[in-house]
Amino acid sequence: MKKKENNTICRCEEISEQEIRDGIRKFNLRTVDAVKRLTRAGMGLCQGRTCTPLLTKIIAEETNKKVSELLPLSKRPPVRPIKMDLNTRASRISEDAEVVKVAKRAVSGVGLKPNVRVICGATDASSYNEKGIETVVIGTGCRAEHTKEENIAVADMEKAVRIIQHIFKELSERG
Ligand code: FES
Repeated sequence: MKKKENNTICRCEEISEQEIRDGIRKFNLRTVDAVKRLTRAGMGLCQGRTCTPLLTKIIAEETNKKVSELLPLSKRPPVRPIKMDLNTRASRISEDAEVVKVAKRAVSGVGLKPNVRVICGATDASSYNEKGIETVVIGTGCRAEHTKEENIAVADMEKAVRIIQHIFKELSERG
């Protein structure tokens, strides 16, 4: 039987129960917001609609509290209506696109297994894709983005640089 901890809790961000429990234990996390910032669970396309109840249940188990005792996930509605910039519209690149193939080869080239996925959030790639230039975002290994705990291991940063070098090398050899 598959171990319970291997269950995927956040399908949008592909975060397992084990990752969530490890984060709670290692950093003594007590809130859904804290777990979200550390693991990215709840930051996916559905914005936590699917995984937040599961996250809350796990935190309650790990902290010996009732679900009703935990702070709910904080919501941050805009202070005033804002006009959406069409440069940041959602886009999706086919896995067969050349840019995805180049990125996958570069990731493989540094000994990592490529993991192609949809991300949520505006990036420079959003603007380029909007202008018809197919662009992907390559993960750098950064964790807990947009928090005070945001970090990246030097070794992961070095791999990110090597991935970029692979891409430059391949493209320059094409002439
Ligand atoms: S399942 Fe977690 S953000 Fe969608």
